[in-house]
Amino acid sequence: DWNSANVIEEQVARIKEQVGSARVIAGLSGGVDSAVAAALVHRAVGDQLTCVFVDHGLLRADERKQVEEDYVASTGVRLVTVDAEEQFLDALAGVSDPEQKRKIIGREFIRTFEAAAEALVLEAKADDDAGEVKFLVQGTLYPDVVESGGGSGTANIKSHHNVGGLPEDMTFELVEPLRTLFKDEVRAVGRELGLPEVIVGRQPFPGPGLGIRIVGEVTKDRLELLRAADKIAREELTAAGLDEEIWQCPVVLLADVRSVGVQGDGRTYGHPIVLRPVSSEDAMTADWTRLPYDTLAKISNRITNEVPDVNRVVLDVTSKPPGTIEWE
Ligand code: XMP
Repeated sequence: DWNSANVIEEQVARIKEQVGSARVIAGLSGGVDSAVAAALVHRAVGDQLTCVFVDHGLLRADERKQVEEDYVASTGVRLVTVDAEEQFLDALAGVSDPEQKRKIIGREFIRTFEAAAEALVLEAKADDDAGEVKFLVQGTLYPDVVESGGGSGTANIKSHHNVGGLPEDMTFELVEPLRTLFKDEVRAVGRELGLPEVIVGRQPFPGPGLGIRIVGEVTKDRLELLRAADKIAREELTAAGLDEEIWQCPVVLLADVRSVGVQGDGRTYGHPIVLRPVSSEDAMTADWTRLPYDTLAKISNRITNEVPDVNRVVLDVTSKPPGTIEWE
């Protein structure tokens, strides 16, 4: 029967056989799937693997640190972090439409990741002792395999940059060590591999990050504000022991809305923060979580006291459908 140590042993043997002496690239998102997939590959082929982490500036508080420090310390992987905050914020300047934001973030992400992959391919070419970079790790889970009809294969990375002497297209063969696993099994494997609990136990977080949790234009100041509010909400939910009960709790900044408040001896005109705690099995449908009033009160007090320019906290009591989990 199922046992995470056996899965690790089996996958390590498979990966070794597939990869041989070639080099491998893995993208890390900060989430559990990419982290466990890369850790399995590292267990199998060590420093033939390089991980790439794109910091798009839309991450939550401490997420970069969790990857750069905790994850690296627990696995020993070689990590390249790409600092792309400015690039993403420039590309998002003046944009409020949710679909447009998603497109821009997706496009910039691929560009950034490709550039990092290209650099690694070139670096390996220049090094006589290094194998060719031939593989890309993907954290595909069993439900994704079933949903997409079971195909597996290669990923084509098309070059947008005109760097002399580079192939126009880089084609990588995929390494997908999680293809037979469900999410809870991935977590068990991650724990067995000794990965940090903040990563292994992380609740779902969307790829476009905080960029789709600011209703309105995404700016550095607004991100900072939302990051502070989100951190408080997460701290209090964890302290109240509610992490198991909720599927996730998006915290949303209504950046284009202001309302009147009073604080100290002055009138304020600040932004509302929305709490969106949901319970769900698979995110296809969801119900709003009936959080204890005491927890809600604590979160509300702390956010309005500690986060400048926020003078109101509201609770989203909409199921999915009709509301989606995210606001954008
Ligand atoms: P919605 O808002 O559609 O969200 O009810 C369902 C689940 O998907 C997550 N989500 C995303 N995850 N990239 C992701 O990796 C995305 O673009 C994205 N959009 C939504 C959301 O957090 C929820 O868990």
